[in-house]
Amino acid sequence: MKPGLKIGVVGKGGVGKTTISSLLARSFVGRGLRVVAVDTDSNPNLAMSLGLDLAATEAIPVLPRSLVVGRRGDCGVDELFDTYGVATPCGVTVLSALRVNEAGAGCTCGGHATVRSLLGEALEERADVTIVDMEAGIEHLSRSGGTLAHADILVIVMDPSRKSIVTAARTVALANELGIARCVAIGNKAQADDEQFFAVQCDELGVALVGVIPASAAVAEADRDGRQLAGDGPEIWGHIERLADLIVERVPA
Ligand SMILES: Nc1ncnc2c1ncn2[C@@H]1O[C@H](COP(=O)(O)OP(=O)(O)OP(=O)(O)O)[C@@H](O)[C@H]1O
Ligand SMILES: [Mg+2]
Repeated sequence: MKPGLKIGVVGKGGVGKTTISSLLARSFVGRGLRVVAVDTDSNPNLAMSLGLDLAATEAIPVLPRSLVVGRRGDCGVDELFDTYGVATPCGVTVLSALRVNEAGAGCTCGGHATVRSLLGEALEERADVTIVDMEAGIEHLSRSGGTLAHADILVIVMDPSRKSIVTAARTVALANELGIARCVAIGNKAQADDEQFFAVQCDELGVALVGVIPASAAVAEADRDGRQLAGDGPEIWGHIERLADLIVERVPA
């Protein structure tokens, strides 16, 4: 496996980016790896999917905007992890990058610059795998330099809607322009004949579909209660393990 593997999880709003980010992160922890999950949502809730309660989620310190990470920057990798990294009950360390704390506080460009700088650094001293749960849409790929320009691979999540697959197609085009070499597109929340739907739509729109994750009552229930998914039992874990294997295979060591 590539040391310091960096994964960006992207897609249209509500398709399941946070769910899949948290489950992938837990899957890599289950393999004995040190995993960092970066929440780049201005309304962050990844930490709740990793087992923190609301109070602990609200207390996560937010990375300063426009921070240049690295030996010659404002803050070294160790200082960054020690100051802003928060351990979660499932063993993943979470960083919160873009939380909006104050109305009218201005744009989040500086937060995106921080994430870009973080991913540009050699993180492998502290993290075997870094997973960035991205805010919805594709704007992060258009910002100067691209927030995820240093990611090794993008996981593009889609739900059974044509719009989410159109978003995936646009994402692949922008990722190619940015020089992000690898994208994998995964269908989520599939019911009945949705596997066929994903196959047909992705084929038409030129999106390379690598797998389909079913709609899971256990995922919906965990989210309804604001807690993490149980570690064993739900059949969705098999799909997540296969996705994790595929990511490791696709990124050369
Ligand atoms: N495989 C699944 N089965 C059932 N429900 C799911 C599945 N994946 C995600 N969901 C549900 O879909 C909703 C949106 O999921 P999630 O928050 O992960 O999406 P998101 O893409 O991160 O959203 P946002 O764009 O707001 O960040 C949640 O209620 C979640 O429980
Ligand atoms: Mg989300």
